[in-house]
Amino acid sequence: MVAQKTPFTVKDAGLAPSGEEKIRWAEAHMPVLLKIRARFEKEKPLKGLRIGLCLHVTKETAVLARAIEAGGGKVALCASNPLSTQDDVAAALAKSGIEVHAVRGCDNKAYYEQINRVLDTKPQFLVDDGADLINMVHGKRTDLLKDVITGQEETTTGVIRLKAMAKEGKLKFPVIAVNDTPTKRLFDNYYGTGQSTIDAVMRATNKLLAGSKFVIVGYGQCGKGLAIRAKGMGCRVIVVEVKPVEALRAAMDGYEVMTMDDAAAVGDVFVTVTGNKSVIRGRHFARMKSGAIIANSGHFNVELCIADLEEMSVSKKEIIPHVERYELKGGKAICLLAQGRLVNLAAGAGHPSEVMDLSFSDQALVLEYLSKHGKSLKPGVHDVPEKIDLDVATLKAECMGIGVEKLTEEQIAYLNAYSEGT
Ligand SMILES: NC(=O)c1ccc[n+]([C@@H]2O[C@H](COP(=O)([O-])OP(=O)(O)OC[C@H]3O[C@@H](n4cnc5c(N)ncnc54)[C@H](O)[C@@H]3O)[C@@H](O)[C@H]2O)c1
Repeated sequence: MVAQKTPFTVKDAGLAPSGEEKIRWAEAHMPVLLKIRARFEKEKPLKGLRIGLCLHVTKETAVLARAIEAGGGKVALCASNPLSTQDDVAAALAKSGIEVHAVRGCDNKAYYEQINRVLDTKPQFLVDDGADLINMVHGKRTDLLKDVITGQEETTTGVIRLKAMAKEGKLKFPVIAVNDTPTKRLFDNYYGTGQSTIDAVMRATNKLLAGSKFVIVGYGQCGKGLAIRAKGMGCRVIVVEVKPVEALRAAMDGYEVMTMDDAAAVGDVFVTVTGNKSVIRGRHFARMKSGAIIANSGHFNVELCIADLEEMSVSKKEIIPHVERYELKGGKAICLLAQGRLVNLAAGAGHPSEVMDLSFSDQALVLEYLSKHGKSLKPGVHDVPEKIDLDVATLKAECMGIGVEKLTEEQIAYLNAYSEGT
């Protein structure tokens, strides 16, 4: 693969027209972010600020990048995963003058080079997805710490990493956990991951899901969203969970709940969404039926222990795009989707625009908030201000034509009092 290096890093500048069409599609389905962009265009709240984005380079990210530039910010964008970039979208952004360094399918070395190119722009605000950008500024690029004012984090895994850094007193600037705010976590992780993961498994395999045993490892926000979509497709859903409360919820939601060892023996399709490592490993592969399909939709490609699979195999072959068939010693086969990387982005188109409208409206408004208040926040992980969450939900409900009931004065007084009882 020859990456085009100057001035930006994209796979093929000629793909720009196709990328532009996709961005237009996303815009048509992201009304809240477009409203914010229109206001940003007038008010220029981000004027002169340098903003580094490390996000999946998709059509929805393009709409966010353009909203930030409309607000006067100067964006430099790289990918948050080597297999999630939509090369045509990257080309379209580069053509319209947004600095982008992202090539789908690049190796780890090129991936980190692209992150470094974003950091070379000396960003003051970091918008991260998985904390690779923020981590780099605390490791190999500490020279840049003096430039950075704040960060914001898009995903559960990134928030976990940042909280671990903060706990040890190593996080040097304030970061807002955008992932954790309700208008992100309850929609993007749940509806976004649910739909796009099922879609990616179907695109890659064309397997009839109805009647199949679909094992979901991790019953958090993503796992719950995935389970309800799998059930809707007629799957016999099995959940594996380590937290007793979540395991109980899965059982009372109507799913089979069992240990990974037991699920391994009966599942047809396995998807991990834990944010943890080696949740499916050698001993589980050994118990699987021949032809079992395994995939990951958690942030990093560590949830399936691919090293174990490699070691147990005599050969592997990509039999159809995104499907690698591993032949195990003894004659059994296991089919790995998307190299164990986030299957919904690597083998599918990622989250639908409508749901990213919420997440990226949160990101845009948090960036505006941090541009005003970032310098007064202490280093550490902070919540999204409640007002931003409320504003985004209100705008989205308006755009969807949803009538939201209002409290009466009497009801407000009642909810704030303790004198009335039986
Ligand atoms: N694919 C996507 O587009 C996408 C979108 C959002 C989040 N994510 C990623 O998905 C992952 C999950 O996110 P979430 O918001 O659902 O997190 P969450 O914390 O809500 O849920 C994770 C669940 O996995 C469980 N778990 C941990 N280790 C386990 C193990 N060994 N076996 C079984 N269960 C285990 C936890 O107890 C928890 O209930 C994260 O890596 C997150 O960054 C991916």
